Amino acid sequence: MLVRADLNVPLDDGRVADDTRIRASLPTLDLLLGGGASEVRVCSHLGRPKGPDPAFSIEPVRARVRELLPDDRVVVLENTRFDPRETANDESFARELAHGCDVYVNDAFGSAHRAHASTEAVAHVLPAYAGLLLERELEMLGRLLGNVEKPFVLVSGGAKVEDKLGVLQNLGGKADAVLIGGKMAEQVRESNPLEFDVVLPDDVVAASAFEADAETKVVPYHELPDGWLGLDIGPQTRRTFAERIGRARTVFWNGPMGVFEWPPFAGGTKAVAEAVADVDGFTVVGGADSARALHALELADRVDWVSTGGGASLELLEGKELPGVVAIPAQ
Ligand code: 3PG
Ligand code: MG
Repeated sequence: MLVRADLNVPLDDGRVADDTRIRASLPTLDLLLGGGASEVRVCSHLGRPKGPDPAFSIEPVRARVRELLPDDRVVVLENTRFDPRETANDESFARELAHGCDVYVNDAFGSAHRAHASTEAVAHVLPAYAGLLLERELEMLGRLLGNVEKPFVLVSGGAKVEDKLGVLQNLGGKADAVLIGGKMAEQVRESNPLEFDVVLPDDVVAASAFEADAETKVVPYHELPDGWLGLDIGPQTRRTFAERIGRARTVFWNGPMGVFEWPPFAGGTKAVAEAVADVDGFTVVGGADSARALHALELADRVDWVSTGGGASLELLEGKELPGVVAIPAQ
């Protein structure tokens, strides 16, 4: 059997720094092994290499898979992007991946927005099925596209408004409140590209420089001293956001409120994460940064779904069809 998983995980010094995606892929592998598969061949891309490149070797991932799932029937292939035919969605590469396999299982939700040989072309080469993770992602994220229980609150953050615009446009109209923090709040304040009102920060944690140990002070957003940067939402905004989130029955949160990797600017993201975790209703978190914050705060168990997809979850919620999903025939 050939399985496409999304094992594109962050590495640090030749080791897997966060194995969330690897762990999320295990239930499908276990299921196939339990069903008596003689070989479970797993493939994935890792990073964005331009060709074969030792810095992007799958070996650290392979080692982690072996630790978590010690079974000789599991074979992890080398980084699919070492072959230029992968991103070209080339059928000859798909045939090579599929060689000797009788079934293809796509469990790579995080890569489903890519029409690549291992996610798209191969689904036309072998009988293709969705894995457990892919199915669950589509079910949980899909609930946000349907009739959601109200109040529905969207929380958006991160650097660039362009990345989130499609989702805000597609879901924002039916949301009871759209809360925007992070750097993208500044862009929206300058000119709101949306057709509805959004809630923006009243105050910010200002920093004298873009540095973890910069001098800081809390100021109203319009009183940011010259040359200073707003690197987190302030305490008043945290209260407002937490209060709006607290009344929700459905929440989708994507993107940090500030530079949460640096403790002086982590409070806003923490406040949002805690508020989302406390919601008595359906809560979904998407995007690698928000997921990382949630895991670091040990709150991941307290939301209904933490998506393993970044771009894929956004494109799905924008209402787009994902090539990796479309290629799988309805069962
Ligand atoms: C991701 O991490 O978003 C997915 O693995 C897709 O990676 P890509 O953006 O390099 O295609
Ligand atoms: Mg990406």
